[in-house]
Amino acid sequence: MFFKALLPLVTVALQALALPSKRQTLPTPTQANVTDTDLLNFALTLELLKSAFYQGGLANFTTKNFLDAGYAPGVRGFYEQMSQYSQTYVANITSQLGNQSVQACTYDFPTQNITQNVTEFVATSDTLEAISTSAYIGSSAYTQDKGLRVTFASILATTAHQSTWVNNAVRGGNPWSTAYETPLDLNQTFTLISTYIAQCPSNNTVLPFQANPQLTTNPPNAQPGQNVTLSYSGQPSNSSGLFAAFLNGFPFTFAPLDNNFTVTIPPTLRGFAYVVVTNSSGAANDSVTVAGPAFFSFPFNANNTLITLNQ
Ligand SMILES: *[C@@H]1O[C@H](CO)[C@@H](O)[C@H](O)[C@H]1NC(C)=O
Ligand SMILES: *[C@@H]1O[C@H](CO)[C@@H](O)[C@H](O)[C@H]1NC(C)=O
Ligand SMILES: *[C@@H]1O[C@H](CO)[C@@H](O)[C@H](O)[C@H]1NC(C)=O
Ligand SMILES: *[C@@H]1O[C@H](CO)[C@@H](O)[C@H](O)[C@H]1NC(C)=O
Ligand SMILES: *[C@@H]1O[C@H](CO)[C@@H](O)[C@H](O)[C@H]1NC(C)=O
Ligand SMILES: *[C@@H]1O[C@H](CO)[C@@H](O)[C@H](O)[C@H]1NC(C)=O
Ligand SMILES: *[C@@H]1O[C@H](CO)[C@@H](O)[C@H](O)[C@H]1NC(C)=O
Ligand SMILES: *[C@@H]1O[C@H](CO)[C@@H](O)[C@H](O)[C@H]1NC(C)=O
Ligand SMILES: *[C@@H]1O[C@H](CO)[C@@H](O)[C@H](O)[C@H]1NC(C)=O
Ligand SMILES: *[C@@H]1O[C@H](CO)[C@@H](O)[C@H](O)[C@H]1NC(C)=O
Ligand SMILES: *[C@@H]1O[C@H](CO)[C@@H](O)[C@H](O)[C@H]1NC(C)=O
Ligand SMILES: *[C@@H]1O[C@H](CO)[C@@H](O)[C@H](O)[C@H]1NC(C)=O
Repeated sequence: MFFKALLPLVTVALQALALPSKRQTLPTPTQANVTDTDLLNFALTLELLKSAFYQGGLANFTTKNFLDAGYAPGVRGFYEQMSQYSQTYVANITSQLGNQSVQACTYDFPTQNITQNVTEFVATSDTLEAISTSAYIGSSAYTQDKGLRVTFASILATTAHQSTWVNNAVRGGNPWSTAYETPLDLNQTFTLISTYIAQCPSNNTVLPFQANPQLTTNPPNAQPGQNVTLSYSGQPSNSSGLFAAFLNGFPFTFAPLDNNFTVTIPPTLRGFAYVVVTNSSGAANDSVTVAGPAFFSFPFNANNTLITLNQ
């Protein structure tokens, strides 16, 4: 069986990853008592969402719809495979967790016309695959069972391939972001995916993860080198002691927020990136995250020049 039976959970000291910079910038495990069952439900939450997105979207788009929108032959077929993979993960995890499994929610994808507009479907899939990739990197750090760690690494690799395929092959952008792909911590991932979740069953399994306040960036299409103003629910009037942490591979970049919560996006950011508000200038994990993340995509070409995606 693909998923090994969960061993009785043995408490192990979770080792910090090697740090590429002097500052502790990696989201090393910060939350106590996350079990492997919690992590499987974390992955299940993500894959139920993706499964609903791909199944629902593909139900409305024929091969001709994809061709008419300018996509190459075969694009829809690869999306079918991605949809099937999410369903496989859902089936495997559910069969392993039994009645401890989280159940599907109702979902709310950001573009109202997602079921009518294949271009918006592709754009949303690009974001979902980028976030999923970062989610599997960060959550792997919490695994206790080695079989589960390999399973997460395996799903991570396929997810990263899917992300590359959408952003590069389908949309004409960069195939990767930086030498290091960005990890997200557990509550950070929940913050991003919760924007797609409308409502979950009231009796659903409660997980030890929660969304941070949503972070809005203004202007929404700000580019590297430009200023962006950050806002979130519960924002204090004084930004003293707060930082914007830009996550785009390693090391993370920290900048103090000015009194207007405005900050310059580092000009070197490329590819998929995230910004979170932290109360630390040296770490960006869940325990110091005040709001966000917000997601950015800064596509670039083979000359490392920023570009606009084909579609
Ligand atoms: C983690 O679990 C142990 C054992 O159940 C408990 O003693 C400890 O207080 C828990 N720690 C946290 C932070 O919940
Ligand atoms: C297909 O689109 C229609 C609206 O045109 C929508 O009502 C329906 O839910 C969509 N089907 C799926 C499976 O998403
Ligand atoms: C788990 O995944 C494997 C590989 O895709 C598949 O063959 C198997 O049927 C799945 N198991 C369950 C219980 O869904
Ligand atoms: C889940 O299944 C176990 C074992 O089959 C059972 O003892 C338990 O009562 C079930 N829990 C719920 C909430 O159904
Ligand atoms: C959604 O599609 C309908 C019909 O194609 C169009 O009239 C409407 O403006 C679209 N709405 C958005 C938000 O794009
Ligand atoms: C689909 O959405 C894209 C991006 O929002 C927009 O440019 C395009 O006009 C839309 N196409 C249709 C047929 O509504
Ligand atoms: C929640 O309720 C639904 C419908 O009543 C039921 O099918 C499901 O098993 C319940 N889930 C849990 C975790 O108890
Ligand atoms: C993540 O959210 C949970 C609430 O579900 C909270 O208990 C936990 O402390 C948060 N993790 C960290 C590291 O702040
Ligand atoms: C913000 O708070 C700091 C320290 O608490 C204080 O020194 C500063 O004057 C405050 N700034 C404003 C604009 O209130
Ligand atoms: C903050 O915004 C106000 C009003 O727009 C402006 O006058 C002030 O210069 C801004 N402060 C900074 C540090 O940019
Ligand atoms: C960007 O913000 C910084 C302060 O964070 C300010 O000094 C600079 O003038 C701003 N630049 C523009 C173009 O607004
Ligand atoms: C990259 O730079 C080379 C040399 O300057 C140029 O010939 C080529 O057209 C550029 N490619 C792109 C995609 O801009």
